[in-house]
Amino acid sequence: MGYLRECVGIESRYRRNRKPWASHLEQSRKLMLEAAGQCDTRDTVLIFGAGLLHDIPLAELLGMFRRVILADLLFMTPARHAAQGEERIELATLDVTASLSSLAEGNTELTQPTAYLDDPSISLVISASILSQLFVVPNAYLEKNFGQSDAESERLGQELVRAHLAYLGAFECPVALVADEAHIIRDRSGAETATASALHDVALPPGGKSWDWDICPLGEIDRDHSVVHRVRGYADFPKG
Ligand SMILES: C[S@@+](CC[C@H](N)C(=O)[O-])C[C@H]1O[C@@H](n2cnc3c(N)ncnc32)[C@H](O)[C@@H]1O
Repeated sequence: MGYLRECVGIESRYRRNRKPWASHLEQSRKLMLEAAGQCDTRDTVLIFGAGLLHDIPLAELLGMFRRVILADLLFMTPARHAAQGEERIELATLDVTASLSSLAEGNTELTQPTAYLDDPSISLVISASILSQLFVVPNAYLEKNFGQSDAESERLGQELVRAHLAYLGAFECPVALVADEAHIIRDRSGAETATASALHDVALPPGGKSWDWDICPLGEIDRDHSVVHRVRGYADFPKG
């Protein structure tokens, strides 16, 4: 559907923008470790969206938990290398929406994910900057291959976001969430020229911490504009 291209694109953007991304990645890691520190049990930490590993404090989590499950649709070289050298790291190839195979056939009826919900060894779940990504590739694919309208993309985007939040809410153990909340475009002077929800206007619950991710500094997209993602992170995601 285009996931490999998307991941390679993120990886290239990361390589071009290590410095501007550093503070966001550090804030994300800090929040994940705060969540880990609050856990009553230290068996398994399950991380959704960990295929690139940029924001995952892997060594520290290995020091705190018996097992780390990195779950993603695909894994880039650093995650594969890490898992080869450490048997306590498991790479789980997983579609967290549980719906991609039907979406690939143009069926937009979603299936509610249930993976790991019945696994008592899971001590902590982390959703790592994946929420605003869940609809990007499916919507582009459905628009191109099935003529999906903007309104339908909006609705599917909202449903995928709500389904992921409901999935996280269904875990009995603590959950940490890091997610883009808004996309902000700035001009050369730094003034905001446009702001849009990164989640098709689905609101996140109150609380957590908010910070800005300089995802596209001046020059990344064009010389006159930069893009910032406003991120919200919860070390203890409030459930239902
Ligand atoms: C923006 S990246 C997340 C950032 C990542 N935590 C890092 O290292 O920087 C989004 C990740 O979500 C994954 N992803 C997107 N949709 C997914 C799905 N339906 N199931 C599992 N992973 C998915 C992508 O493969 C990608 O690795």
